Amino acid sequence: METVGTRPSGGQRKGPAHRLTRRQDVGALVGEAAGSPLRRTMGVGQLTLLSVGATLGTGIFVVLGEAVPEAGPAIVVSFLLAGVTALFSALSYAELAGMIPGSGSSYSYTYATLGELVAWVCGWCLILEYGVSVAAVAVGWGQYVNELLELTAGVSLPETLSAPPGLGGTLNIPAALIVVLAMVVLLRGARESAVANTIMVAVKIAALVMFCAVAFTAFRAGNFQPLFPLGAAGMSAGAASLFFSYIGFDAASTAGEEAKNPQRDLPRAILLSLFLVTTLYVLVALAALGAMPWREFEGTEATLSEVLVQAVGGGSLWPILLSAGAVIATTSVVLTVQYGQIRILFAMSRDGLVPPLFAKVHPRTGVPRANTVIVSSFIAVLAALVPLGSLADATSIGTLFAFMLVNLAVVLLRRRSPDTPRSFRVPFAPVTPLLGVGFCAYMLFSLGSDTWIAFGVWMAVGLLIYGTYGIRHSKLGKEAAE
Ligand code: ALA
Repeated sequence: METVGTRPSGGQRKGPAHRLTRRQDVGALVGEAAGSPLRRTMGVGQLTLLSVGATLGTGIFVVLGEAVPEAGPAIVVSFLLAGVTALFSALSYAELAGMIPGSGSSYSYTYATLGELVAWVCGWCLILEYGVSVAAVAVGWGQYVNELLELTAGVSLPETLSAPPGLGGTLNIPAALIVVLAMVVLLRGARESAVANTIMVAVKIAALVMFCAVAFTAFRAGNFQPLFPLGAAGMSAGAASLFFSYIGFDAASTAGEEAKNPQRDLPRAILLSLFLVTTLYVLVALAALGAMPWREFEGTEATLSEVLVQAVGGGSLWPILLSAGAVIATTSVVLTVQYGQIRILFAMSRDGLVPPLFAKVHPRTGVPRANTVIVSSFIAVLAALVPLGSLADATSIGTLFAFMLVNLAVVLLRRRSPDTPRSFRVPFAPVTPLLGVGFCAYMLFSLGSDTWIAFGVWMAVGLLIYGTYGIRHSKLGKEAAE
């Protein structure tokens, strides 16, 4: 049986170019995953719930309201477009997760296919996909806590303590608070258990189904005319903003070492979770826009609970239930994604690309303590100081870039190792993954210039760190030198 990348990747060549393109051995990665000390307990159901758990959150509960003014009622189509973009990448994730069933997600896939420099870039993008998205989700959490306070006790936190400097406040304390609370849980080694995750996912799905049932009672078909008041450009700008709500479907790819049958179940879980989430999103958008004319979202950035207040009145219990559901929904995203970020940096540190401190495990709790504290502090500061829109855009640009690389990795591996067994094959490759690259590129160019500038600065810092640290401390590099 042929194993991908069994030849020492470019190991015979010398010089700086080789250092940047050296690749990890896929066979070794598969062996490492097979011998993992982690317990294999997860079936396809739990893996799907893990992905859904990391996906349903601030995107649907908060960002939808912010994106409606960009597209009008065509926001329903925006959801579909963003879902198709996610689908192409999900197919590529499914193929690679079935081949390389480890826990490093796209960082590992690119390290094995496109070489060390691209893997570093991918890992650096994953910090946006995971770390920065936690900050964004935490801001959404704070918004719903405030809303819950208002609906139940008639009080809300003063703006100076619940909004970042750019938006009339000083610090967003609730957003930072949930990140710190998640850190405390993670430090205790209490990894979100499968049971707790199942309960939280059930609560959030129930909250969204309830939203649809209540909002559809106030449905007015006239709200959808005209469907494209802001044209195709508005619709695709909406899709770029909403892409954020799909981020997380790939979370199962960080649990390859805890899956009972990763080759079979990871691809299924990734695709199934995307299908579930897309169906829910389209239904929620239809219900929301049917209950509240799109122009009323302008300037208010209404959350789903405000849509319900508008649909059934403020005295009703439904908006309270929805806000409580949203708080639980976003709590589960913060926990799972913050954990994922710590794990990715752990993997990068094990490979020598970031300092060994990030892979140091506390002997009693088995938790990478320093890593957890540093990552959580960084995220808490972001959550306290940066507005949600900027955080969500930074997350989207990093994720789209990482997804583009995953699609390219599929094309490359098909050419380089056509006969390697794959438990799932992207249909019509290389056309499908290349379309995935195209869709990601299209969405990338729909993002604003501020986001691109921030991304450029982020990448420059990343490359500087790699050039001064990673390239010299790479474990693969040291092994090659020996
Ligand atoms: N998809 C995640 C959310 O919407 C990031 O909260």
